[in-house]
Amino acid sequence: MSSARPPSERHLPRYILGIDTSCDDTGVGLVELAADGSVQVRANRVWSQTVHAQYGGVMPELASREHVERIDAVLEAALAEAGLTVADIGVVTATSGPGLVGALLVGLMYGKGLAQALDVPFYAAHHLEGHIFAAASEAELQAPYLALVVSGGHTHLFDVPREGDYVLVGATRDDAAGEAFDKIARLAGLGYPGGPAISEAARRGDPDAVPFKEPLRGQKGFDFSFSGLKTAALLAHKAGAKPEDLAAGFERAAVRFLVGTTLRAAQAQGRETVVVSGGVAANRALREAFAASPVRAVFPGAGLNTDNGAMIALAGAAALRAGRAPSPLSEGAVAYAPLANVPA
Ligand code: KG4
Ligand code: ZN
Repeated sequence: MSSARPPSERHLPRYILGIDTSCDDTGVGLVELAADGSVQVRANRVWSQTVHAQYGGVMPELASREHVERIDAVLEAALAEAGLTVADIGVVTATSGPGLVGALLVGLMYGKGLAQALDVPFYAAHHLEGHIFAAASEAELQAPYLALVVSGGHTHLFDVPREGDYVLVGATRDDAAGEAFDKIARLAGLGYPGGPAISEAARRGDPDAVPFKEPLRGQKGFDFSFSGLKTAALLAHKAGAKPEDLAAGFERAAVRFLVGTTLRAAQAQGRETVVVSGGVAANRALREAFAASPVRAVFPGAGLNTDNGAMIALAGAAALRAGRAPSPLSEGAVAYAPLANVPA
């Protein structure tokens, strides 16, 4: 079977296709891998499903169906953006987990089929590794570094002592960071997705109007928790707090907590570089706080923070450069797939 053949080091394929259908975004991206090993995003197309808005949450069955309906068009748009044809694709990468199994299966099967039809290698990618490698669009990622993945479904802090070695040093005990932004935005009537809405409203608000206590204050570890901030927001909302004041207070507290915890971990692990990725990494206040900190913070480029296919292609490029063997076509989709098995 051709896709089980490891690509030769001397002939690293030039164009890598990346597909992500882990949740409600149909993402297809193309990355160019140059002979010197440098990578460049050539296309990044995402179809964000809108059918779920009326239900107030992602409906898994509808997500799968919509991926099936849209994926051809998203691939065509990505190829057009890059000025390429399917025949130019040298490697196919698709997310196999974690995520909604039915949704994942669409992109995974599509990717495997394409790889087989084109007779090129196929790599299954981990969604969180994709988020981390999204930052490779901006800077050469060289271990060791610390990686904070903050999205609607994840709040994970990994230490990466060596390439491909992920040690979980902290995670959320309740809601993911993006989930907290979304829930507080909904509570305050600021709309969806909540992250950008909170950020925008916060600019008009007074961060001192509503008191938000620092979560897990005094902890020795590097965990996260957002339920306390959510409760504080709910109580303040019931007491008549203005939405923009809630937004400003919550955003400042969340950013201080995320940055403070990450900086403590960086110091404890002796890391100078911190990769910050996932949807919440688009947050301006978070970026400013990291930029003003003593670590070298690396963020994904524009359009690469939230779920997309280009980040999966970037993870594929890293796998190729590391000489990793292609995935067997028997590889299935998995709802839960820890990136690091042993919590520190
Ligand atoms: O990575 P992503 O697209 O999906 C998951 O894999 O979960 O992240 C989406 C999350 C949403 O919760 C959204 O509110 C949040 O990222 N987000 C933001 C911002 N932009 C998106 N949160 C804070 N500030 C933003 N500017
Ligand atoms: Zn994601």
